[in-house]
Amino acid sequence: MSGVIERYRQFLSFEGEQVVSLGEGSTPLLPLDRFKDSLGIRSRVYAKCEFLNPTGSFKDRGMTLAITRAKQRQSKIALCASTGNTAASAAAYSARAGMRCIVMVPGGKVASGKLQQAMIHGATVLMVKGTFDAALDEARDASKHTAITLVNSLNPDRIEGQKTAAFEIVDDLGCAPSHVFMPVGNAGNISAYWRGFVEYKNAARTDSLPRIMGYQAEGAAPIVRGAVVESPSTIAQAICIGNPASWQSALRARDESLGAIDIVSDGEMLAAYERLAETEGLFCELASAASLAGLVKASALGLLTHDSLSVCILTGAGLKDPATARAVCGAKASISCLRVDEVPEALKALSEGRARP
Ligand code: F0G
Repeated sequence: MSGVIERYRQFLSFEGEQVVSLGEGSTPLLPLDRFKDSLGIRSRVYAKCEFLNPTGSFKDRGMTLAITRAKQRQSKIALCASTGNTAASAAAYSARAGMRCIVMVPGGKVASGKLQQAMIHGATVLMVKGTFDAALDEARDASKHTAITLVNSLNPDRIEGQKTAAFEIVDDLGCAPSHVFMPVGNAGNISAYWRGFVEYKNAARTDSLPRIMGYQAEGAAPIVRGAVVESPSTIAQAICIGNPASWQSALRARDESLGAIDIVSDGEMLAAYERLAETEGLFCELASAASLAGLVKASALGLLTHDSLSVCILTGAGLKDPATARAVCGAKASISCLRVDEVPEALKALSEGRARP
């Protein structure tokens, strides 16, 4: 089992034998035919299933490199601020490395599955009364004055590892797509993808480059609005960020790729999240659906042509956040409990297309 460091070592300028890996990367690139047909989108659309990484999000690609290097330097403690996925990933890779891990999360704003992941892997969880941005400021300060290694995407190893997703897309398609759609929170991932595509072009692995299309939640869209959002708000908690650390490199990715960074509403994300699950059997988390909602929006704006080749990045797993799924499903159907002797009649009614008695 090899992870992204082994697979793309030549592009990572990584020296060393000891790699801390959980077998991350090499995630499926799947066509979304039923999803896009149901919306009348005529061009090709794929999903990069990053939620199938070992801890259920794309963070693992950067975490393998960040923790491997931290261990090389004999650092004993990894620290991050997180809306949940970075915390889960940092905790798992730290456990694998035999390091301690401390995660700082905004209190009450992290999906239960992510918190449980951090805890089961033995991380110390500090709930902070405030935003992710405030927690990140504290984490950044602490890592300046202590022997702790910061494993947020401010750590250059994180972006370096995450760029491998772009390599995989080109390797799978045999070319770069025309558009890459992705959620934007702290803006590390959008920066990483752009770096990956550019490096692959420089290495003559692709002739062309994609337009990078980033999407922020309506209530947490500092880059789109051009100003810090002091109190960001969205039900897509993973991207509820008001002052992204990689703001400037996100703007470079947008501008150099001739792409866009735009807004999607909570309702648009919910609709795309549900449609994906129903039409494709893929269960991503709500924030990931910003990429799908972005595709829908770009299509409606006429930004796609019949020969476009779009890739939507599904960044995190739906199972981490059952409460959101329950809220969506609860609105549609209730599950009633039958006596065993009522089952035959219920199945008969359903098989005949009648409502269950
Ligand atoms: N999608 C998911 C599922 C995320 O967890 C995040 C960020 C993003 C998209 C946005 O990526 O920050 O690189 O722009 N999650 C971070 C965390 C902030 O702490 O887990 P980004």
